[in-house]
Parts: sequence; C-alpha cells; structure tokens
Amino acid sequence: MSIAIVSPGKDPKPWLEALRQVDSSLDIQVYPQIEDLKKVEMALVWQHPPGFLRNFPHLKLISSLGAGVDHILSDSEIPHHLPIVRIVDEKLTWSMTNYVLMGVLNFHRQLYRYQKDKDNGIWDMSNPEISIKVGIMGVGALGGDVVDKLMYLGFEVCGYGLNDKKSLSFPYFAKHQLDDFLSDINVLVCMLPLTSETEGILNITLFQKCNPGTYLINVARGKHLIEEDLIPAFEEGYLSGAMLDVFRVEPLPRTHAYWSDSRIQLTPHIASVTNPKAAAPQIVENYKRLTNGLPLQHQINRVKEY
Ligand code: GLV
Repeated sequence: MSIAIVSPGKDPKPWLEALRQVDSSLDIQVYPQIEDLKKVEMALVWQHPPGFLRNFPHLKLISSLGAGVDHILSDSEIPHHLPIVRIVDEKLTWSMTNYVLMGVLNFHRQLYRYQKDKDNGIWDMSNPEISIKVGIMGVGALGGDVVDKLMYLGFEVCGYGLNDKKSLSFPYFAKHQLDDFLSDINVLVCMLPLTSETEGILNITLFQKCNPGTYLINVARGKHLIEEDLIPAFEEGYLSGAMLDVFRVEPLPRTHAYWSDSRIQLTPHIASVTNPKAAAPQIVENYKRLTNGLPLQHQINRVKEY
C-alpha cells in the first residue's frame, strides 16, 4: 500500500516531510519517480498530467492538495467510481478570510485613492469612507467564514449560491435571485467552486446588473471571469475596480492588459496557499479511513462538482 504525490504544480518536498512527520511508517512515492505503480492506493494531486492517474491500477482515493478540485475534475480520464476529497483547513480558511478582508477594507477606506493622493502631495479629507454592502458568492467553508468575520466587524453582508439554504444567520440569495442579490450590494466577492455551471459567471451581463461602481474581488478561479469583459465593465461604470488573485492563465502573461490597469490590484494566486503541516493530518486521517473502510472526510460530490 502506498500514497503517491503527483503535484507538478506544487513542490512535493514540504508535503513529503509533513506527511512523514504525522506518520513515519507511510510508504510515499513522489512523481515522477514512482517505481511501483501497483502499490498506489491514494493519490495526492495538484495539476497532475491529465490521464496520469490511470497508471495506478489499484487507486482507491484521490485527494486534492488544495481546497479546489476543479484541477482534478477537468481530467476526463478519472474513473467515475473513485472518491475525491479536498482540503478543508482552519489555516487555509483564516488566510483566505484575511485576504478578502484586506480587499474589502482597502476599498471601503480607499487605500488606493490615498496612495495616489500621497504621490501627488494632495491632502483631501473629504468623504473618507465608501459606504459598502458586501455580497459573497459561495458561502461554504471559506465564504461562510468571510461572512462571519465581516459581520463581526459590523459590515452589512449577504450571500449568494446555487443551492437553496435555510436557517442562515445572514440574508442569502439562491440561484434564481441573482439580480436581487446584485442590486443589494456594491462589493462583489467570488468564492464559488469552479464547475460547469459557474464557469464564466462573472461576465458583462452580470456586471450590467451591478450597482454602478461595484468593486469586484475574485479569489476563486480565473475561469469564473470572462477576462475581456472586465475593462469594458470599468469603462461603462458598472464596476469601479477589482482585486484579482486568480487568472485563466497563470502565471499571468506579461503582455496581459491587467498588469498596467490602475483599477486592478492583482496578486499571484496567493490568497490562501495550503500549508502542508496544517493539512497533512487530515490527509493521513483519510488514508487511515480508506484502509479501515470508514467514511471519508471532506469528500466532494462528483455530480455537483464540489
Ligand atoms: C487554491 O487555489 C486551492 O484550491 O487551495
């Protein structure tokens, strides 16, 4: 029995060390030096080569090395019967929430305006706070924590998602209520899982329905946004700016228009990077559950795609 780390998209060494620290008896093979394909029962993956997992004839479980599983589901060769689990971790949630808070607060307290004022030697005390109401698209483990922390800070917040949800402590709009959700807010945060239903959801038609000057934060996936619609949405006044951590092509090509647009703040997909030490215990726990035939933790629904 062994675990394979197949993560050309992440350095495997910290994962190997963290897993061994949790259980030094684990047999772990690391891509591309996997010598005994037949022994592999669990694969830990991040941007694996499509089709590669077919090489493990006895594979029983796939674990993402992050919160998202879209990088796994985009591989059409993954057998349908295989369970897929993801990382749900306090540290990951904490970092994500702090990143979103940074974006919301920078907009609310106009950090970028004051940076410009400083460059131009301007002392302007007028209108120091933009009044905001924040809408979080996707209120699962990550988005739900952002809602809680924003409410704790005293902001008005509401949520949006594809499913009906009951007994939440905040206003929530379900799928068919997108227009009502958008008309209620002026900061739009995308934290949705990437699925065939949510891909391209941030597009000009949606932006047209936003309150003029809405600020966009995308910490989910680049493919949620139709990238060429963003600058026209600024030009039309639907949006006033955006903070983006994720892009269709990463690293963002040096020639991309976003680099030089002062209305866009961008970061290199670092909003919340999974910490191997924090996540290793739950990976090992799932491995043990698999071995003992117990229910897995954080298993995703293949039909819902998250
Ligand atoms: C990062 O993007 C993740 O899915 O953990």
